[in-house]
Amino acid sequence: MRIVLGVTGGIAAYKSALLLRLMTEAGHQVDVVPTPAALNFVGQATWEALSGRPVRTDTFEAVETVNHVRLGREAELVVVAPATADSLARAAAGLAPDLLGNVLLTATCPVLMAPAMHTEMWTHPATVANVDLLRSRGVTVLDPDSGRLTGQDTGPGRFPEPDRIWAQAQALVASSPRPSRPAALAGRAVVVTAGGTREALDPVRYLGNRSSGKQGVAVAEAALAAGARVLFIGGAMSVEPPAGAEVVRVESTQELHDAVMAHAPGADALVMAAAVADFRPAEYADAKIKKSQDGSNPVIRLERTPDILAEAVQARAAGQPMPGTIIGFGAETGDATASVLEFGSAKLARKGCEMLVVNQVGRDKVFGQDTTEVTMLFADGREPVAAAGDKSEVGVAIVTELTGLLGSAGRLDRMDQ
Ligand code: CTP
Repeated sequence: MRIVLGVTGGIAAYKSALLLRLMTEAGHQVDVVPTPAALNFVGQATWEALSGRPVRTDTFEAVETVNHVRLGREAELVVVAPATADSLARAAAGLAPDLLGNVLLTATCPVLMAPAMHTEMWTHPATVANVDLLRSRGVTVLDPDSGRLTGQDTGPGRFPEPDRIWAQAQALVASSPRPSRPAALAGRAVVVTAGGTREALDPVRYLGNRSSGKQGVAVAEAALAAGARVLFIGGAMSVEPPAGAEVVRVESTQELHDAVMAHAPGADALVMAAAVADFRPAEYADAKIKKSQDGSNPVIRLERTPDILAEAVQARAAGQPMPGTIIGFGAETGDATASVLEFGSAKLARKGCEMLVVNQVGRDKVFGQDTTEVTMLFADGREPVAAAGDKSEVGVAIVTELTGLLGSAGRLDRMDQ
């Protein structure tokens, strides 16, 4: 789920760092939007480090991504914690002097505010009226706890414990009807490849890989849910192809290559989630390879397979019809010379596609799991986007970025005319 965590200028801001941890550890993507005053209590670096995402406060930063409306529109939950008396007043009046104000004016998802202030402020008629107004508009304003406040005073106004806020926020989302947004990919055609390839050695044996196909299926399902027409090209997989897609099954890299070259030209986007063999046996034995009488071991010579992704990008550059948005995947481990993201950036440049979904693989991160952690890198220089959680959630995150890329491609096309 995409969450915006608004933090306003109260001492309880430090407790929101724990709330943020609860959200990210549950696998959600959290954009922290502090007000300028909140940064007096907890700085930008802390929020960026804990969320793994860029943190902005001002409407006029990252203007090219139309951040002031994008964050609110894309959010599936907005939590403002702590909410000061002043921030409740601004939200009630619909003021938007900063990025958080803009988020609150554009969000159509559930909004929860967790007030924290001195008792006099909480019981002041102005605050009482503001809270009533916000609640009448459907905002969930929690009652603060009673207890020790910042100074010597005690009473109602204390920031609720982060786990209580998080529990209330989850309950709010669970009980809220899904927003009926216009289908973001209506009228778009997307080709998604998934699963592993099998390269035959002889009629019974092959070289293959452990790809489950889960991530590609999740991307296809998310694209279908967003209204796209999906052509799904599936290799060897341990899961069913997505219901509702047109499905083409392939086995070898060559078959995958031919299917992509046949179907991608008519599509708006190509998503290469398949785990494609980089090498295949140079010779295919028509009959089953037998154990030799003299006890010698057979030698398998390998040759490179066609790089389908790179070929699609090159075909486009040569003026042939190919999708304007091509997305590749890259599994990296990182080593002593470069990090996972450095290898990913180099691969993105090498492949020439618009976006590369990088995931870190390692001993504890094996194929076939239901959860994953990825970072999406973009050729247009926009900041990387991280996503983690269930593969279906990550599929939604990938399709959200795909939708953004298609949107900007459309805008450029119109400007060209
Ligand atoms: N790919 C492809 N054709 C190939 C090999 C890979 O289209 N013959 C695509 C995959 O579908 C994926 C991306 O390219 O989207 C992965 O790139 P690749 O360079 O194969 O990644 P790695 O296998 O991780 O490569 P390297 O060993 O170079 O790190």
